[in-house]
Amino acid sequence: MLPAQGQPAPAQPEALYGGTAHRRVTIRDLAAAKARGEKWPMLTAYDALTAQVFDEAGIPVLLVGDSAAMVVYGHETTIPVTVDELIPLTAAVVRGSRRALVVADLPFGSYQASVQAAVETAARFLKETGAHAVKLEGGHRVVRTVEELVTAGVPVMAHLGLTPQSVHAFGGYRVQGRGEDGQRLLQDAKSLQEAGAFACVLECVPAELAAQVTAAIAIPTIGIGAGPGCDAQVLVWQDMAGLTPTVPKFAKRYADAAGLLKRAAQDFASEVTAGTYPSPEYSYR
Ligand code: KIV
Repeated sequence: MLPAQGQPAPAQPEALYGGTAHRRVTIRDLAAAKARGEKWPMLTAYDALTAQVFDEAGIPVLLVGDSAAMVVYGHETTIPVTVDELIPLTAAVVRGSRRALVVADLPFGSYQASVQAAVETAARFLKETGAHAVKLEGGHRVVRTVEELVTAGVPVMAHLGLTPQSVHAFGGYRVQGRGEDGQRLLQDAKSLQEAGAFACVLECVPAELAAQVTAAIAIPTIGIGAGPGCDAQVLVWQDMAGLTPTVPKFAKRYADAAGLLKRAAQDFASEVTAGTYPSPEYSYR
């Protein structure tokens, strides 16, 4: 619906982080933040309650990452997770959030075979979950796919550098874009922008290269292990909150969620075994 005529335009554009407008963040808001030079945070989410917490914390973009393969389903890599496994998680994140733009990660095998496969998978995510955009991994080889998705009306977030779906091709999780590869990555970022991507994740690339890419393209870059020069930063929430037992060098733990949960479970167990829980205040008369 178009705004009613005569309504005053907002005096100041709202900050992406901590804004209070009762509407979803859009890809236009992300473009405007880049133009203003405003940095913003993105987190992963995989269920309604954490989505609600991060949404209320003001996080403007939530990614339902294929990292769910590891942190939700317990696999060693992101490769095994399927569209059918990610769809219910994505729908839950959309239901749990009110303001955040929700991005659905297209899992390995769901978009590589053909442009048609990519459009069909993206359509499923948008129709069945309410997600607002999709993310896919890769450089020049996905440029035509990005073009067709954007033409079909699907906002696309690109992902360059260490693209975990290609971990076996890389021979392990290692920094990408060093030496001559850096120029290729820069060219890929420009091509993906040209193809219509609205943002680009840069994972595990040298900080200097990430800053160079950020300056060279007009769409926001979202760093993860890519230094401070990116427009935005993303972390897997379990790494950020200290739930995962080991984290990569770039992941700062902002809490000890594992310790907190363990202590709560032990306190509960102690009270149950001692017979002090449930006390009368937790019982019905
Ligand atoms: O799957 C994921 O969580 C991701 C982020 C780490 C960018 O792709």
